[in-house]
Amino acid sequence: MSNPDTQGKVRYAVVGGGWISQAAFMPGVVQTRNSVMTALVTGDPRKAKELAARYGLKSYAYEDYEQLLGSGEIDAVYVATPNFLHRQFVLPALKAGIHVLLEKPAETSEAAAWEIVEAARASRAKLMVAYRLHHEPGMLEIIERVHAGEFGEPRLFTSTFTQHVEARNHRAQNGFWAGPAADMGPYPINAVRNLFAAEPIEVHAVGVRTPGEPFNFHDTLTVTLRFPEERLATFTLSYAVPGTERFQLIGREGEVEASPCYGFGPGTAISYRTTLGERQEERKHPVVDQFAGETDYFSSCILEGRDPEADAEEGWLDVRVIAAIQRALESGQPQHLEPYTRSKRPTRAEQVRHYPQGEVPPFVDADSPVAE
Ligand SMILES: NC(=O)c1ccc[n+]([C@@H]2O[C@H](COP(=O)([O-])OP(=O)(O)OC[C@H]3O[C@@H](n4cnc5c(N)ncnc54)[C@H](OP(=O)(O)O)[C@@H]3O)[C@@H](O)[C@H]2O)c1
Repeated sequence: MSNPDTQGKVRYAVVGGGWISQAAFMPGVVQTRNSVMTALVTGDPRKAKELAARYGLKSYAYEDYEQLLGSGEIDAVYVATPNFLHRQFVLPALKAGIHVLLEKPAETSEAAAWEIVEAARASRAKLMVAYRLHHEPGMLEIIERVHAGEFGEPRLFTSTFTQHVEARNHRAQNGFWAGPAADMGPYPINAVRNLFAAEPIEVHAVGVRTPGEPFNFHDTLTVTLRFPEERLATFTLSYAVPGTERFQLIGREGEVEASPCYGFGPGTAISYRTTLGERQEERKHPVVDQFAGETDYFSSCILEGRDPEADAEEGWLDVRVIAAIQRALESGQPQHLEPYTRSKRPTRAEQVRHYPQGEVPPFVDADSPVAE
């Protein structure tokens, strides 16, 4: 396995210079103390030139990926290609002993996500799924307070997460696994799994196609999850209405209502209100750079030889639920999930990071204005 650079920083290659790479990951890495980017893998000549120049990176074409993995120029890859193109970049990296920070959802089928689990277990390199909220101070505080029993035993979770997706966006054109269940579902699914500290055992789903919208899949859906001990979670996702995000967790003694709770970026501070009997409280955390935070945490795991919390199993557990939503929509029947015990949960003490939000530079692609 290659070694971190001379300053002790983990060297990343960015795989896919799309929206999340440019607007969030790349400006985030620049802020960290323990991570640096050295390469960009892209199919776009403008990005290969201009985006690479912005960060001082060496560019590689997708065809030269294997060569990059063996180059000795990188320690890790950040895989931010469309969901159906994750595994093909993850597996060769793990085989070459290169660490992988993988965007959510891990893959587009349960079998493919499990293949990543097995490859990560067989590799000497580490893999983390990029659940940025596992490093966000507000979310970690909520998880810690719920686990500490402040609101009594958590019984119910409800959530709404919506955004209006334009017809020309690739998310509108690639079916179920580019749609709201796979794109936005990981947020409420991951939140409730970690708040309840449990895995669901039954999945129900109802989907609709909103009249007048261009999608050839269910653009709006409501999912109900049954958890062990007769606990319930329900969430609604949509591509067909303006953006909103919130969740409510109700325990036997009180509740948490969080909004915004899933987003990131300039101006987005994870905020929540609690109710315990007559007592109400509101907490708003400062905006943090969630991508700097997650990258710092993963690099510290690499540098200190620790396994990251959000490992490949965490990614598979969300994909398992998304796949069950797909089967429930297709069959109209509830889907049973095998009981599963996950041994790790996000912890504030080890995972919280407080980097201030970085500047988001202009987007570079074939259509962007040519730099002078
Ligand atoms: N953590 C989060 O908050 C968050 C938010 C949004 C998205 N994501 C995840 O990040 C991943 C990328 O999402 P995104 O919004 O950045 O998507 P995007 O803007 O479409 O970017 C994906 C990039 O992948 C590359 N690519 C390689 N082969 C491709 C192909 N056949 N078709 C299209 N693109 C191809 C392209 O980069 P080049 O032009 O450089 O080749 C493209 O720009 C997804 O898994 C998504 O779920 C995470």
